This record gives sequence, C-alpha cells and structure tokens, in this order.
Amino acid sequence: PPIRLRDYHQPAWSVDTVELEVELDIDCTEVSSRLVLRGAATTPSTPLRLDGEGLELLAISLDGKALGSDAYRYDKGVLEVDGVHDGSVLQTRVRIRPAANTALEGLYLSGSRDSGFLLTQCEAEGFRHITFFPDRPDVLARYTVTLRADRARFPVLLAGGNPDGQGGLADGRHWARFVDPHPRPSYLFALVAGRLEHIQREYITADGRPVKLVIWSEANVIDCCHYALDALERAMRWDERTYGRQYDLDVFHVVATHDFNMGAMENKGLNIFNAKYLLADPDSSTDEEYRAVEAVVAHEYFHNWTGNRVTCRDWFQLSLKEGLTVFREQQFSAEMNSPPLKRIEDVSLLRRTQFPEDAGPLAHPVRPAEYREINNFYTATVYEKGSELVRMLAGRLGQHGFRHGMDLYFERHDGQAATIEHFLAALGDANDIDLTPYLAWYAQPGTPRLHAKGQYDPARREYTLTLSQQMRPASSQPDKMPLPIPVKLSLFDQHGRMLPLHGEDFGGGIPQTESVIVLDKAAQHFIFRHVDAPPVPSLLRGFSAPVVLECDYTPAELALLLTHDADGFNRWEAGQQLAMLAFDSLQGTHDAKACDAWCDALAALFQHSTVDDALLADLLTPPGEIEFADRQLEVDPAKIHVRRQALQHRLATHIGAQALLERYRTLAADTSHRLDAGSQAGRRLKRRVLELLALLDADQAHDLAARQFENAKGMTDRLAALGVLVRDRAWQAADALVSFRERYADNPLALDKWFTVQAQVPGEAALAIVQQLEGDPAFTLKNPNRARALFGAFASANPSGFHRIDGAGYRLFAERLIQLDALNPQIAARLATAFNGWQRLEPVRREAARLALGALAQRQELSRNLGEIIGNVLQH
Ligand code: ARG
Ligand code: ZN
Repeated sequence: PPIRLRDYHQPAWSVDTVELEVELDIDCTEVSSRLVLRGAATTPSTPLRLDGEGLELLAISLDGKALGSDAYRYDKGVLEVDGVHDGSVLQTRVRIRPAANTALEGLYLSGSRDSGFLLTQCEAEGFRHITFFPDRPDVLARYTVTLRADRARFPVLLAGGNPDGQGGLADGRHWARFVDPHPRPSYLFALVAGRLEHIQREYITADGRPVKLVIWSEANVIDCCHYALDALERAMRWDERTYGRQYDLDVFHVVATHDFNMGAMENKGLNIFNAKYLLADPDSSTDEEYRAVEAVVAHEYFHNWTGNRVTCRDWFQLSLKEGLTVFREQQFSAEMNSPPLKRIEDVSLLRRTQFPEDAGPLAHPVRPAEYREINNFYTATVYEKGSELVRMLAGRLGQHGFRHGMDLYFERHDGQAATIEHFLAALGDANDIDLTPYLAWYAQPGTPRLHAKGQYDPARREYTLTLSQQMRPASSQPDKMPLPIPVKLSLFDQHGRMLPLHGEDFGGGIPQTESVIVLDKAAQHFIFRHVDAPPVPSLLRGFSAPVVLECDYTPAELALLLTHDADGFNRWEAGQQLAMLAFDSLQGTHDAKACDAWCDALAALFQHSTVDDALLADLLTPPGEIEFADRQLEVDPAKIHVRRQALQHRLATHIGAQALLERYRTLAADTSHRLDAGSQAGRRLKRRVLELLALLDADQAHDLAARQFENAKGMTDRLAALGVLVRDRAWQAADALVSFRERYADNPLALDKWFTVQAQVPGEAALAIVQQLEGDPAFTLKNPNRARALFGAFASANPSGFHRIDGAGYRLFAERLIQLDALNPQIAARLATAFNGWQRLEPVRREAARLALGALAQRQELSRNLGEIIGNVLQH
C-alpha cells in the first residue's frame, strides 16, 4: 500500500544523541550504535520501532542489559523493542557488507577492491542500511561518529561534523572521531574512508569564523578540483551577501566519486559528489560542464541552510528543500553568468523534462499526496517546477520582501523539520500578505494553460487583454482550483517600441513599460488605456509562471518580438513560438508565412544584430524533438525528427552557406581556450553555425569538423566537432571515434561522452550502434554514469532512435532494465521513465511499447522502485 501525506503522525520515539562506532572493512563492516531515546509524552508505552534493512544483528542491549530474543523482533525491515522508556539507551551492533552493495545506497565501495574507497549515500532512506534508526527526517539528533580502519588501506577517514581527535591503534589500525553540534536527520549522515588526495583553502566567514574547505578525490584527478573549490568559495560569499547565511562548522569537506546514483549529496559538513559535477578541466570538460559544476557545488552548499538547518518534516515536503535550493542555485548561476541565458537554459530543461512528466501517467503534484518508493520522487516536478513556484513567490514579494520572508523562515524554523505551509506562512507573515492561494500550485498536478486574447478598440483607444486558465486535459482532475498566475508583460507598438502602461491594473505614479498582473480567477479582463494603435503584447516575460501560453499571435507579431523584445528570454521565446508555427507550416496544412517569418528574422539577426553570440546561438536553435512531440496528440518521433531537420535546413538556406562559412571562419580564428563568457559564447555559436552548415554543404562541414576535432584545445570544440561527424555518419567519424577512445581510455567522464554522442545518432541506425557499444570492454551496467551515458542517452534523449517502429528499441531497453534492476533499482527506475508518454505514440509504436511494458510488468522480481514506475506508466 502506498504511503500517504494525510497519514502523517509524529514519531512516538525520538533520538537525542547517536554515538556510532564503525569498524571499516570492504567485505564486513561492523557498526555499533548507542541511541539515547526520547519518548513523546503521549506514547510512553508504544514499543520502539526502528528501521533496518539487511542488517545482520550481532548484539542488542537496552539500558546496559543484553536483550533476550523475546524482548525484540526484527522482521521486514523493522526492529521492535519492548520496555523502552524516556531516556533509555539502546545499543546495537550490526554487520554490513559494503563490497556486495551494488545498489549504492547505504555504505558501499567505489572503484576496485584494491584501490577503491568506501562511502555512503543515505538520502532518502539509506541510513537504515547502516544501522537501526527511526530513519525519517523529523527525528533530529546529535551525532558523534568514530571510524576505525586499517591505516594503509584507509589512510583518510571522514565523517560529517567537526573533527574531534584521531590516533593510532594496534595492528596498523587507526581511528578518527567527528562531532556534529547541530541536530540533524539521519539522511544527512555520511562517512568516507580510503586513499584520497585533497586540496584545501582557508575561508573566513562574513562574521570572522575560519573554516577549512577541503576537496577530496582519487589522486589522478585531484588537479581537476580547483575549479570546484573556487566555485564553493563564490557560493559561500554569495549566500552571505544575498541571504545573510553563513557556514556553521569548522570544516567543509567535499568528496568526488565515479560511482553515484545522483548528482551530489548535501551531507552535513561532508558533501559527496558524482565526479561529473565536481571535476573540471579544459581537456575533458565542456563549457556546459563547467557551469554545471559551479551550479551543483553551489546547490549542495546552499542546502546547508535550506535543507539541513531547516529540514523537511516528511518526504512529501521534499520540494521545501529541493525547489527552494534549485531556485537559489539558479539565482546564483544567473548572477555568475548571464541572467537571460540561464533563464533560457532553465525553461528549456523544464519543458524537456517536467512538462512531459506533468502531461503523462507519472504526473504528480510538487507536493505528492502518496508514494510507494520515495526515491522515485526526486523528479523534475519536485525540483524544477518546485523552483518555479518559489520564483513566483519571490516575484510576488519583490527582492526585499522575499529576503524578509526568508529571514523569518530561518528564524522560526532553524533546527526544525518544517512543511510547505510553514514556508508560505513565514514568507506571507513577513510581508503581511496571504500566500495560501499558492498552496494550490503545490497540490495540483498538470501544466496549466494560460489563454490570452487581445482586443483593440480604436474609438476608446483601449486595449483589452482577456486571460483565462485551464488545466491540460490529459491530467484533468475533478476538483481543480484556479491558480494565482503572475503574468509579467509589456506592450509593443508596430515599430517595436515599448508603450507606457496606463490603467487601473498598473499602479499609479509614472507609467512603467513593464508590469505584473496576477490572474487568480478562471478568467479576467485587463484594460490598457491611451493606446494609439493595436499593440503586440509581450506576455509572461522571463517566464513568470510555469504554464503553457496560448495566444494566437500572427507570424509577423512573433517576428516583431523576436527582433525587438528587450527581455532576452522573451525574445528567444517569440522565436520558439514562431518556430512551432513554422514547423506546423511544413506539413502544408498551415500558413507558409510562418516559416519565412522565422527564417527572415533570424537571418537578419545573424547578419546585423548586436545580440551576444551565445544568445544568437540559442535563437538559431528551434525547440527540441521532445518539445514538438509534447504538442501533438499522436506522436511519430521519426516524422518529427525529419520535419525538424527540414525546418533547420530552411533556416540554413535562408542564411546562406557563404554567410555561415564566413562566420565559422571568424569564430574559428579564436583558437585560445579561455573560460570567460565571451569565449564560451563564441564556441557555442561556432558549434551552431557548423551544425547549420552541415545541413547545406555536408562535405565542407565535415572537413571543417574533422579539422576542428584535430586541433581543438578543449573538450567543447572537440565534442562539438565529433557530434557533427558522428550524427551525420560522416566518413571522418570512424577515425575521430578511435582517436577519442584512445585519448580518454583512462578518463571515465570523457568516455561517457564518447558513449553518449554515439547513442544519440538519430534514426534506425542507433540500435545497432548501442548494441555494439554494449560490447565495448569499458561498458558496464554497474556504473550509473556509464549506464546513463549509453541507455539514458538512447532511451530519453534520442526519440527517433529509441522509438523504432519495429519495437526493437523497447525490447532491448526493457531487457537491460531487468538486468539493471537486479543491481541498482534506483537507476533502473529512473531510466524506465523513458517510457513515459508511450500512450500518445502513433498506434504501431504504441502497441510495441505496450507489449514491452506488459512483459516487464509480468516479472515477479521487480524492485519496488522499478515496479512503481512500470505500474504508474501503465496506469495500473
Ligand atoms: N539531495 C540531493 C540533492 O538534490 C539529491 C538526493 C537524491 N536522492 C535520491 N535518492 N534520489 O542535492
Ligand atoms: Zn538538492
């Protein structure tokens, strides 16, 4: 049966202090625990129930007395102990097996038996794989952790909190102790032990407290950690400056591992990172990866306040920490880089991942009402849509109002496990505003549709904008409430000039050219006065709400916004909308003017514009295949691919081979490899220009790509060139692939990209390529990054390759999911979400997908993780 939000009860027993002693060994680790228990006043006679998964219980005592087998029961993941009272001390000793742990949850081995190291991952429910504990986020305890291990094999011993002594033991062993003064939930527990190198730096907080920042990795990549250390310092300063939040321990450790189920983990004082989001060097990281490292380092650091100091009452509140922390991370990245580019990146991600999730059988509210396996709810909805909700609230309160609200939130809830209601109440109370209407955003799944219609009255010189909202039919639920939808807007005249906004809805004083109106009913009119001619509205500027805007713009109006809108995001957005119309026009059933309007506007921008190179690259990129599919009632991924290519071919033709070639040569003349914004922008545009050129003059483009591949000074240029060669299946691709494979034989992160770029070859060719890559000696399902690099890229990011009409893509993928599930259920379940949306496929593919999914669902041995996803996707 699922776990439900409405069934929440406070824990009958809580824990004051935890003392752990861990005897580390790769095969058999022993964990001794001493818990001081606190009973809630109302439930002193309830037996103590502790979570424990796969623990071999070696000893148990209560208040100093060993317990006989009649005084406790350990069954189905629960240890029940009788005779506990307030202040009781429970001691247990258990054995666990790190090297046999392929699920990478709890304590496990990263790397080989001989040289690898031990580490933990506890969020959400990994701590119960380490020791017995009320493994839920509303039990906050103070931790003292002592690690013991062989010194030669495990020279470095780390746990969360402040160091509290270390020393030698007999037999070549040694120990180290850590004490965390801040009460914290069990999911933030972490330890690391092994042969690791480090780099470090002293940091002084704004209020003068020294902190040692240390990054740890295996020796061969320690030189790739400097960028992350810089990013960490920037993030710490930013949080002091922006939110007045300072770090609160003497040390901050960060560790990189190649074996990790997710991106990174914010364990108190000991963050653990997937190496993909920590290591960076020009030879093996792209510009995008540099930015991702900066963002994830900041994200995990920001969790220290939004997640650790104020944590979640239960896992339904996950977005309380994740949505908020993603929002903070986005603010930080925008400030460090370019706000409009960051916004474009974030909204693209939302549309590619969250919108399809919200439109299909896996749809759930930002605060889910129920789940079977919490690990399945670390989703784009909880993270990305959750961040959009915080952004709306922040926009509603304004910069200072939001800061006051956050101050009050920290003041009220520091050291507590809070809920989304607490968050809204603090933000609202600090500003004397009732934010409870926003709770509906957290409770209702589905992407709202915002319909906009404008009407101009020349006699009255008035423009009336009618806004209305509907939920998507696919996720329709009976009791939908109207949501507060903030719409940031401007009006443009026919020459692309912004108009001052007059009218009751736009405040008094000097009329502004931009305003936010809030639609909070099913439908509403807004009247603009003193308007001399029919205006063009720029709506939802900066993507002010996570909705789908439906507005019947003409191609000419969109082209006007694409050319003139000063809001970089909305300029891009107008281009995206126009590209959608252009795409439809290629079917012949629509007005061909759209395609010309799109191409003309972009060609003009390409020739003369002053827009920055990176924005231009984004403007020249139409929506992705997944976004096109999301608008269709019956999806044929092969057709979408062909038509999107045709659309880009039109664009390339309009710009012209000569102009593209000249721009490529100009951009390629800069052979430095610097990381500043201008250099990154140049590489981004260069890549886009090369891709467009490849559509017009393949031979020429392939020669250029081969040369770029040879001479590239960094990964961005190298991978861009390889991508063009491989995707076109150019004859130069084979050599380039061999040379890349050899160059990066010992660099797993770079090799992952080698797998991915091939798994993304569009169309029918992809399957054979994937099958061949599975035979590469470097391929293994045991490493999550590698499994994602091949099968995630194939099933989730290559629609025309995966959705073969013969269903062979589905069958291969389903077989691998079964194998993967036996090793690592979290990864299997995550990859399986690639089947989302199968119900909207055209009939032949739909039937093939149904068969593959049906066969999967029949399997007896499915994990709870994969079982829940398959069941939900099939809507059982
Ligand atoms: N809290 C981590 C982060 O977002 C992610 C943990 C994901 N855990 C999981 N079981 N999927 O920074
Ligand atoms: Zn997070």
